[in-house]
Amino acid sequence: MTPRTSQTIHPLDVILHKRDGLVLTEAEIRGFIAAVAERTPERQLVTDAQIASFLMAVFQRGLSLPELATLTEAMRFSGEVFDASVLAPGTFTIDKHSTGGVGDKTSLLIAPIVAAAGLAVPMISGRSLGHTGGTLDKLETIPGFDTQLSLARFAEVLRECGAALIGQTPTIVPADRVLYALRDHTGTVESPFLITASIMSKKLAESLNGLVLDVKTGSGAFMKRYEDSRFLAELMVSTGEAAGTKTVALLTTMDEPLGRFSGNWVEVWECVDVMRGIRHPMSRDMIELSNTLAGWMLFLGGKAESAEAGAALSDSLLRSGAAYATWLKIVELQGGDTSVFDNPASFHKPAASRVLHAQQDGYLSAMDCTEVGWAVQRLGAGRAKPGDPVSAHAGIEMHAKLGDKVTTGQPLITLFAEDESKLDEPERMLRATVQIGAEKPERQPLVREVIRATP
Ligand code: URA
Repeated sequence: MTPRTSQTIHPLDVILHKRDGLVLTEAEIRGFIAAVAERTPERQLVTDAQIASFLMAVFQRGLSLPELATLTEAMRFSGEVFDASVLAPGTFTIDKHSTGGVGDKTSLLIAPIVAAAGLAVPMISGRSLGHTGGTLDKLETIPGFDTQLSLARFAEVLRECGAALIGQTPTIVPADRVLYALRDHTGTVESPFLITASIMSKKLAESLNGLVLDVKTGSGAFMKRYEDSRFLAELMVSTGEAAGTKTVALLTTMDEPLGRFSGNWVEVWECVDVMRGIRHPMSRDMIELSNTLAGWMLFLGGKAESAEAGAALSDSLLRSGAAYATWLKIVELQGGDTSVFDNPASFHKPAASRVLHAQQDGYLSAMDCTEVGWAVQRLGAGRAKPGDPVSAHAGIEMHAKLGDKVTTGQPLITLFAEDESKLDEPERMLRATVQIGAEKPERQPLVREVIRATP
């Protein structure tokens, strides 16, 4: 890496070069990001207007793979990175990242499964975003669970039990905070290049040997079109590999909530049930996806001879109770009260609930899963604006999956909220989007494609 500081480039030159379709040099990219990271209110090395122009130029012109790898690396090292050398020599570090879904609680299963197999999972997660849930909001429904550990304590927990789950800190990838805030105001959020640099810089700051990406596609994904999800997956795999991290992406279907519950505590409850051997039929797809993703992680980390063998190992770690024992250790070490898992159904009991029944016979045939996600958020599981509290109680329970035969009067969805008044709008939203038809719908497989680096 050539050391560069903000002093060596002029932001306007970088903007003009990208605007005019030129390929940026490493020095230009590193210098621009250094200027973003080093600026202070008194010393504006690059102005908001210039950063916004740069973002729009990248949005319009795109980046070559080398430019993207450089941008990601410059962002990754714009702040503190996790120092994996504090772990035992030879420890393989690996994480999983999902591009966001509804009822997607697989991280809560995968971290203890993969740690129980002997790999290290330094997981830095996010909060609910738009219509999708966030791992941190779910974990924080466990009384005492601390998601804001220092990096030093994060390393200690990792050393002791193989996994630790925390939130983004102000010192990790500070450049992304600046870029993300401006993207939000300048219509540049959706660029696959900017999404890749944003996600991968934060993941690679975990100093990973391996990374498995769950790139969602379908009505509940941020990217609705298959080709767009695929392109994003390819960019992320290429960027991970360029950084020396073994990276695989799975394109997975998100056209209905994953598993039985969507919300915050209810998702923890579902995972605790699975780890204690209670396999509700509505959790089947969630268990399958968790085992598939964990299987790839175990394969990349050398614990299984193939991803399929890894998935079988993952399932056996769930069934034997080894994953649950690791989960309890993680929660304890992060300050959480594990007694709430003794009877999860009776903890955070919702004050109000309502059941949506089928109005006719037929098959559960379609839903806009993004709308279902918004209904979950409006029940109180998500935020109207950053910083708002989220409700531990709010969420939904699905009683049928797409393609299931349903009969008039059968429960389809139960809604939970903190008070009766919060149920009305989500109920209307769900009624409007959940369809029952005479024909059994065609279903996409849960995993549509696996993207790996071309040798
Ligand atoms: N999540 C991120 O962290 N960044 C993006 O750009 C999109 C999703």
